[in-house]
Amino acid sequence: MNRAQPLVLGIESSCDETGVGIVRGTELLTNTVSSSMDEHVRFGGVIPEIASRAHLDAFIPTLDQALADAGVRLADIDAIAVTAGPGLAGALMVGVCAAKALAVATGKPLYAINHLVAHVGVGLLDQNAADGGTPGGSAQPGGAPQLPAHLGALLVSGGHTEILKINSLTDDVQLLGSTIDDAAGEAYDKVARILGLGYPGGPAIDKLARTGNGKAIRFPRGLSQPKYMGTAEEPGKHRYDWSFSGLKTAVARCVEQFEARGEEVPVADIAASFQEAVVDIITSKAVLACREHGITDVLLGGGVAANSRLRELTAQRCGSAGIRLHVPALNLCTDNGAMVAALGAQLVMAGKEPSDIGFAPDSSLPVTSVLLDA
Ligand code: KG4
Ligand code: ZN
Repeated sequence: MNRAQPLVLGIESSCDETGVGIVRGTELLTNTVSSSMDEHVRFGGVIPEIASRAHLDAFIPTLDQALADAGVRLADIDAIAVTAGPGLAGALMVGVCAAKALAVATGKPLYAINHLVAHVGVGLLDQNAADGGTPGGSAQPGGAPQLPAHLGALLVSGGHTEILKINSLTDDVQLLGSTIDDAAGEAYDKVARILGLGYPGGPAIDKLARTGNGKAIRFPRGLSQPKYMGTAEEPGKHRYDWSFSGLKTAVARCVEQFEARGEEVPVADIAASFQEAVVDIITSKAVLACREHGITDVLLGGGVAANSRLRELTAQRCGSAGIRLHVPALNLCTDNGAMVAALGAQLVMAGKEPSDIGFAPDSSLPVTSVLLDA
């Protein structure tokens, strides 16, 4: 095994994307993704059983495509990495079983890794340096590339909303705050349904919001009251946490009130005001957590990183707080196999032992568990 520049195959199947990525050290060779999103559209959200079956259908073609794109053979691979959690149980099971089968058939070591930490690991790929998005990744003489010393990660997608502190990507990741109910992308999808905008709701609301007034309606910012926030000296229980379920209900009530009065529902203003509430509370709490934990660089990841207003306000508020913001290319922000391969390569380069083949996927794997060992 080449520990300096390992050739790593990464497999991702935690939600509706079947991803196979291949990296050599920090060099991205391929990021091949097959999504079952279209099959979920008529249900207005991801249906776990449909996603699992789609992973089964897509896995071998996606793997073949990835190997062909990268111009490598399975026999050349040094290690296999797979998302072990968090995610949908059945969907994870498909990727994990496929990875175990490949590992047993080829005799390659297998790394069972954390999906959330993989979202951060993607920031180490050289490709990000090209678009100015890298948070580090400079090769150190004789060692693995280094991330900035005070790195945070803001992950915002249909499945997660978290602010992390990365003390060490391979074994020390701290959860500073997270949503206590819906993920931000989930709130976008649910509100889009209330507004009759279809699925996925994020891009539809993002587009419509540009034509509306974000100040038209003041929607609630969840967990922002002093009793939850506390102070820097005496932090409240939810100082860096988010809640989006009350916001979704507020939008539903607002629509009902317009309808009850027989008035036309100002959909664009509601979309813009909802978006303003989401983006305001995400960015204000994330920047607060960064400032109070000495974070100087923050990586933005997850599907909602595509949101124009989130990018704009995060950049603005990070800038005012003296925090450098890094946004990987969008296809590396959403769920993919390259991020899994990237983190796998970091673990190999750090000399970590592979996982025991007997491990089970864990749908609620905590972010503090970077690598499963058994
Ligand atoms: O990371 P992702 O592809 O899958 C996971 O959920 O893990 O994220 C999908 C989510 C969906 O909820 C979608 O509505 C949201 O990201 N999304 C957006 C935008 N594009 C995608 N939300 C807001 N604005 C967007 N432009
Ligand atoms: Zn994800």
